[in-house]
Amino acid sequence: AQLSVNASPQNTQMIPENMFGIFFEEINHAGAGGLWAELVNNRGFEAGGPNTPSNIDPWLIIGDELNIIVATDRSSCFATNPIALRMEVLCESSGNDVCPPGGVGIYNPGFWGMNIEEAKVYKVSMYIRSSDSMDLTVSLTSSDGLQNLAAYTITADKEDFKEWAKVEFDLQSSERNSNSRLQLTTRTSGIVWFDQVSLMPSDTYMGHGYRKDLASMLANLKPKFFKFPGGDYVMGNYLLNAFRWSETVGPWEERPGHFNDVWGYWTDDGLGFFEFLQLAEDLGACPVWVVNDGASRNEQVPSATIAAFVKDVVDGIEFARGDPGTSWGSVRAAMGHPEPFQLNYISMGNQECSMHYYKENYRKFYSAIKASYPDIKIISSCDRSTISPVEPADLYDVHVYTSSGDMFSKSSMFDSTPRGGPKAIVSEYAVTGNDAGRGTLVAALAEAAFLIGLERNSDAVEMASCAPLFVNDNDRRWSPDAIVFNSWQHYGCPNYWMLHFFKESSGAALHPSTIQVSNYNQLVASAITWQNSKDGNTYLKIKVLNFGNKAVDLSISITGLENEIQTFGSIKTVLTSGSLRDENSFQQPDKVVPVESPISNAREEMSLVLDPYSLTSFDLLL
Ligand code: AHR
Repeated sequence: AQLSVNASPQNTQMIPENMFGIFFEEINHAGAGGLWAELVNNRGFEAGGPNTPSNIDPWLIIGDELNIIVATDRSSCFATNPIALRMEVLCESSGNDVCPPGGVGIYNPGFWGMNIEEAKVYKVSMYIRSSDSMDLTVSLTSSDGLQNLAAYTITADKEDFKEWAKVEFDLQSSERNSNSRLQLTTRTSGIVWFDQVSLMPSDTYMGHGYRKDLASMLANLKPKFFKFPGGDYVMGNYLLNAFRWSETVGPWEERPGHFNDVWGYWTDDGLGFFEFLQLAEDLGACPVWVVNDGASRNEQVPSATIAAFVKDVVDGIEFARGDPGTSWGSVRAAMGHPEPFQLNYISMGNQECSMHYYKENYRKFYSAIKASYPDIKIISSCDRSTISPVEPADLYDVHVYTSSGDMFSKSSMFDSTPRGGPKAIVSEYAVTGNDAGRGTLVAALAEAAFLIGLERNSDAVEMASCAPLFVNDNDRRWSPDAIVFNSWQHYGCPNYWMLHFFKESSGAALHPSTIQVSNYNQLVASAITWQNSKDGNTYLKIKVLNFGNKAVDLSISITGLENEIQTFGSIKTVLTSGSLRDENSFQQPDKVVPVESPISNAREEMSLVLDPYSLTSFDLLL
């Protein structure tokens, strides 16, 4: 096969600055029990909603009904999340009703075990009310409670907690245990109420509450945009359970939390609207906010009564961008971010174009947002053909879920899209079904072909992100996902590593390239030049995907270069594996990862061999 690249700086097309980003959805416990580092699951005992008896799951009781009675009531000091846990202890440290040696109480196993690391500091915060004197031990233990990792005792008189009071302290663990639990135990009789019990590691990403290892995985992709918080999660099965941004901001203790009825779990909304915007900023990515536009999967607000939803979205933009003197801007400022966030993209709902009121409601959202924030780019859920001066949009959203063969062929999906007019944001794409498994090599390669196609068509496509991003291995609601984790481990699937081949593409110069090959339609390629801002070096990056089962002799011919190629510093990177269905796993996290090697003789004319089923990048230092 022959690959010809015209690398002349005069003959380029600029790839959009925000081309490759990430899309976060609260699915598979991606946030609660994942990216958000809170270790206590259901910290406010609110998982059953505001009704009593509430659902305290996964909290469990230590002791039996002869020595402890646990219930929930509506006695919390927080009006927005009224449930508190009431614990009545019937036993004592001595006398007739003696408590078990370890005491009685409650414990929280976190999200399938808390990962506690040796010598690391954990911050406990909790609210207590009691009219009794007590000794309460707050401890980190092994999953069976037998081994103590860290403990703190609260000794209180009858007066100390007569009114609700917040207690904060640190726990430092003596050892490591990835399956720990947090216990609240006592051997003193009496009644005590607990609420909003939180345990956070002290070393979160940028100090902003994100799990460090998982946020670093995102940062390593150098994403240019960060789309959140869903997906269907934004809609909910019912509006009652949709993500409502205003209920996720302000002090964490006062957030009501909500049941994620699409993906089947409770979230305390510690990872709320503010935290999403902050994460985008921390990643150096533009936030793309998917708003609830008055539709759930099963309901839709008619246009006559959509005004409250429109106002809610405009308020949300004020929260993100308003100065601290505005009513919502002041809430953001009070949360520690007086400067506005750079919110420039709003996605109007999630793939609900065909719903009855979508277009009429969309027009109302569009004009209200543009009236106050004309620079904000509005993304329509409808396809390009529906957009017109009457149905305006800055971008239109495309979701692609398909087999690997079809995804490969979709590398030409935008080849004949008319230029001019709104461009696409392909905000969700993934190979699904049998080919995809839990993240196979073949899925990653097919997606690479698709992305090369998007690069080549970046005059018709503005942005792209895969879906879903994360899965907690204990709660797989959707496979495959790019990053897999549990309480203490994580790994990237082949498609996560494939994305590394595109992390220099945003804002780069795309060069014309052609492949000539007979009887083998399995090759796709692109070429860009990009500048490394760290050392100022310029690279010509040529990516070639071989989606067939044959090794290919490839001759590369580069014309139009203004600088000579430097052999020292030029690198070849290959993503491949022994079998198409190979996946990474906790046991073998590096089974399918890119492998780098120097290019011994980097020149304008090169002959190389492409492995079967492989993605190869030639990074040529100019
Ligand atoms: O990515 C998983 C789901 O796929 C999203 O919630 C939805 O937008 C799409 O159908």
